[in-house]
Amino acid sequence: MKVLVIGSGGREHTIVWKLAKSPLVKKIYCAPGNAGIAEQAECLEVKVDDFSGLLKIVHNKGIDCTIVGPEIPLSLGIVDLFEEKGYPIFGPQRRAAEIESSKVFAKQMMNKYNIPTAYSEVFDDYEKAIDYLKTQSFPLVIKADGLAAGKGVLIASNKSDAEQALTHIIKEKRFGEAGRRVLLEEFLSGEEVSMLVFSDGKHILPMVTSQDHKKIGDNDVGLNTGGMGAYSPVPFFSEEDMEIVLNKIFQPTISGLEKEGIIFKGILYAGLIITEDGPKVLEFNARFGDPETQVILPGLKTDLMDIIQATIDGRLNQIELSWNEQSAVCVVMASQGYPGEYEQDKKITGLDELKHREDIVVFHSGTREKDGHIVSAGGRVLGVTAWAGTLKEAIDKAYQGVGKIKFENSYYRKDIGEKGLCF
Ligand code: AMP
Ligand code: GLY
Repeated sequence: MKVLVIGSGGREHTIVWKLAKSPLVKKIYCAPGNAGIAEQAECLEVKVDDFSGLLKIVHNKGIDCTIVGPEIPLSLGIVDLFEEKGYPIFGPQRRAAEIESSKVFAKQMMNKYNIPTAYSEVFDDYEKAIDYLKTQSFPLVIKADGLAAGKGVLIASNKSDAEQALTHIIKEKRFGEAGRRVLLEEFLSGEEVSMLVFSDGKHILPMVTSQDHKKIGDNDVGLNTGGMGAYSPVPFFSEEDMEIVLNKIFQPTISGLEKEGIIFKGILYAGLIITEDGPKVLEFNARFGDPETQVILPGLKTDLMDIIQATIDGRLNQIELSWNEQSAVCVVMASQGYPGEYEQDKKITGLDELKHREDIVVFHSGTREKDGHIVSAGGRVLGVTAWAGTLKEAIDKAYQGVGKIKFENSYYRKDIGEKGLCF
């Protein structure tokens, strides 16, 4: 088969790396890709939202299956368009992807189908939202409805922070249309866990659990980022939690969507928080996570292309997922300054030293080739990923890998995976 992967981050590099191991896959294209992806796939300079450019690739190269990495093309309806044209594509249609692209829609679904989540109210009127604050205790969570590149959630520790956030979102429209509606949500405490399933609209197949590290600083301080590292599986996520999450969260969400006339095909990702009352949903995503994918896919023994085809064909009940009994850790190396301003084009050295390692892989996030060298080209630059029999060994190996790689002003967290060691 010839496949096209859409996207350019660490998630897409991991997908490409995994597909390259499939006997079903003969050739991989990636749009637009990055310098790491270019080692396994032919990268084509077409943006993820340039649908006519992407359709041209599919037509001209004879692509048998397209796999969508990021949320933007899904929310813009790439799957609907490709299906209309008769081109096989992996991912949810626009209405199904709304579970991620509209937090109001996701919350309505959760409330209607009794899926455990935080209590919240929706506002589009500034004065009414301000009035509501008078009745609330703090911290309070303020969420813009639409996609805001991970920046649309604010935790207000007091009333004046909440007022300021509402001014930014509703009055000043800092997130544009994404902030037209706002959720004011109860603050929940607990450890966060990412849980992803493959869904063909009827059947679901769970993947191993993982934990992201969203804050820029060690011990979870500072600004939110796209994710500074992850590990898998999560040792404190019990069998009982798994039962609850499958039976009370994923199944009712997929069947609830079906009742609304929406068939969810692709990956449903629940951002969970394990509260004293059990697991609850903080958010849904309609795609693989980044950097969760980097720690999930290396342990997958079942052929990924086979799973993708079965998802598209609606026969996931014929597939069984099997996993290596191993822990995986991904440490993200970023450009100093991220998630704010940062410099790019820094020459990266040391990548070759890890090439021969079977148990350490460097997934590229923001890199490109310049004058024969690989240079940084984004906030998150690389995800150094390692696996081993225990979490402790995997952490040590991942940091051993990080130690070999150098670029000017690189920054990484020193505590990825440590939370998993406390249990
Ligand atoms: P979301 O995009 O909805 O997952 O929110 C991003 C981050 O905000 C989450 O990973 C949590 O750390 C935090 N968050 C979101 N909702 C809540 C909540 N109801 N209570 C506490 N923290 C939250
Ligand atoms: N790691 C968070 C996300 O992919 O949304």
